[in-house]
Amino acid sequence: MADLSVNVCGVDFKNPIIPASGTFGYGREYEEMYPLSKLGGISTKGTTLHKRTGNIAPRIAETHSGMLNSVGLQNPGIDYFINTELPNLMTKGTVIISNFAGASIEECAEAAAKLDETDVHMLELNISCPNVKQGGAAFGTDCNIAAQVTAAVRKATKKPLIVKLSPNVTSITDIAKSVEAAGADAVSLINTLLGMRININNRRPILHNNVGGMSGPAVFPIAVRMVWQVANAVNIPVIGMGGVSSGRDAIEMMMAGASAVQVGAAIFTDPYAPIKIIDEMNEWLDSKGISSVREIIGTVQPW
Ligand code: FUM
Repeated sequence: MADLSVNVCGVDFKNPIIPASGTFGYGREYEEMYPLSKLGGISTKGTTLHKRTGNIAPRIAETHSGMLNSVGLQNPGIDYFINTELPNLMTKGTVIISNFAGASIEECAEAAAKLDETDVHMLELNISCPNVKQGGAAFGTDCNIAAQVTAAVRKATKKPLIVKLSPNVTSITDIAKSVEAAGADAVSLINTLLGMRININNRRPILHNNVGGMSGPAVFPIAVRMVWQVANAVNIPVIGMGGVSSGRDAIEMMMAGASAVQVGAAIFTDPYAPIKIIDEMNEWLDSKGISSVREIIGTVQPW
């Protein structure tokens, strides 16, 4: 069996596979199916300073080879997360990454300060949610604001800080370089691509929010391209995500430059997807005689 362990920002992961924020809740439904200790890590559903009920339904739509969501950061608030969900997660023997967001720079910094007081292993600042009116993608699509919010959060925590980037920009490398300069320890990408579906019978958008974020296998090549570009532009680790649904996809994402890989939409079609992906990575590495997954990171050789 190959060695699947990776290290990201000084944190040891037993393997590089991490359920992505918003696709795994706080792990409770999944721990009935398999030990969460099999996972490299878990990125929790994004929390905000105050509880949010999310957007009005319908907020999920199917697309060819993917899906749209406009959930709107529904979550129970950071105090509930810290007091009720995090203690359970911290007993699971896997790396816990607390994803969080805010409607203002101050809210993001305050949330980070609260998380800094906990035992959580890493923070993932979400500046890329396309489904909220304040914060979210408004922070992550402008280099100056992305840097300001990252710097404010950096001041509020000493934990390893990942910043989750939006693909809905002209140059994701410029945003990545801005957050790196402002103190990010790593970047994760890509969040969802802004999309829209219309019910042609009533001429209404299918999502009540009109638009939403697209994820799933259809976005995979875009994600690989952006991970490759960003990995070549920054000196901090890149965590890749976007349409990963097999071990071969995860290997490809790592060859593009990802140090670890998040799995999102695939979990909605198969809750066991992260476990299958770990097994498939092992099989592929063994079949090639590669002893450590770390050997493949960033090894694509462009023509
Ligand atoms: O709407 C949502 O809760 C999704 C968040 C995100 O894509 O970051």
